[in-house]
Amino acid sequence: MTSSQAPFPAARFRRLRRTAALRALVAEARLSAADLIWPVFVTDVGGADGPVASMPGVSRLTVDGAVRAAEEAARLGIPAICLFPYTDPALKTETCEEAWSPDNLSNRAVRAIKAAVPEIAVMTDVALDPYNANGHDGLVRDGVILNDETVEALVRMALAQAEAGADILGPSDMMDGRIGAMRAALEAAGHKDVTILSYAAKYASAFYGPFRDAVGASGALKGDKKTYQMNPANRDEALRLVARDLSEGADMVMVKPGMPYLDICRDVKDAFGVPTFAYQVSGEYAMLKGAVMNGWVKEDVILESLLAFRRAGCDGILTYFAPEAARALAG
Ligand code: PBG
Repeated sequence: MTSSQAPFPAARFRRLRRTAALRALVAEARLSAADLIWPVFVTDVGGADGPVASMPGVSRLTVDGAVRAAEEAARLGIPAICLFPYTDPALKTETCEEAWSPDNLSNRAVRAIKAAVPEIAVMTDVALDPYNANGHDGLVRDGVILNDETVEALVRMALAQAEAGADILGPSDMMDGRIGAMRAALEAAGHKDVTILSYAAKYASAFYGPFRDAVGASGALKGDKKTYQMNPANRDEALRLVARDLSEGADMVMVKPGMPYLDICRDVKDAFGVPTFAYQVSGEYAMLKGAVMNGWVKEDVILESLLAFRRAGCDGILTYFAPEAARALAG
């Protein structure tokens, strides 16, 4: 590739950077509102709606507020919204039944959004942490996170979400075998067209801190998630996990967090050529937003960070900046 380049001065790279028109013509990656998924926090707990302290500009919304957000997404050309419930602490148990209640907060929000804005794709989170008294994504016995018992619970949860009308299920739990179990159950129940966006390469990351505040899971969490989420040191393992989830029936895969893991995004896209997403998580949002708000960097860092995901091979990005970025892209 490089060897076919003429030497200076025959080759002058600055020729193609001289004007905005020329730069646009030869741009390799592009970002549009259609590449974004907007994660939204929902609550029905009185007084819990409103700003999330560690995520300036982000609020927990009521179900009505989430419907208005979906309408805004539709106006801005954002194709999908992803729901995360802030559950009433009184409903959290060690057995997590609320997770598969047909009328839980998340399922009610899905129905309300699909009724009001059917063209928006609604994504849900398949993991037990918002319903778990101990804050973990899986069932816990004697301090151990149980894999197979958790998978059974996740299957019930996935079916309830499909029944409510979710278009995209996002298993974010990192248990082994959950994609295959969910896919088989969805087929058997007649939900053949419900898609799965697997959190295939999800790392045990300190960048999730503000999210746990937003969904009210920080206080509850005992210990850490290192026995199920990936070690940030690992790269080969990410590819093995993506291969595994695809073989079990995932339609799309995700790398999470985003910006510190762009190498993994590129590896996944190159190795599999499947729809690949990254999650620019809460801590990444907080860092960028905080620096912009303090005037330490210009707000251009937002679109630059999102374009970087596209350059790294991602088809789309889950980002709390979605509405702000879509407005900026619209000019
Ligand atoms: C939990 C879940 C987490 C996020 C999405 N789903 C947090 C965690 O694994 O502890 C993080 C998202 C973010 O930080 O923005 N199932």
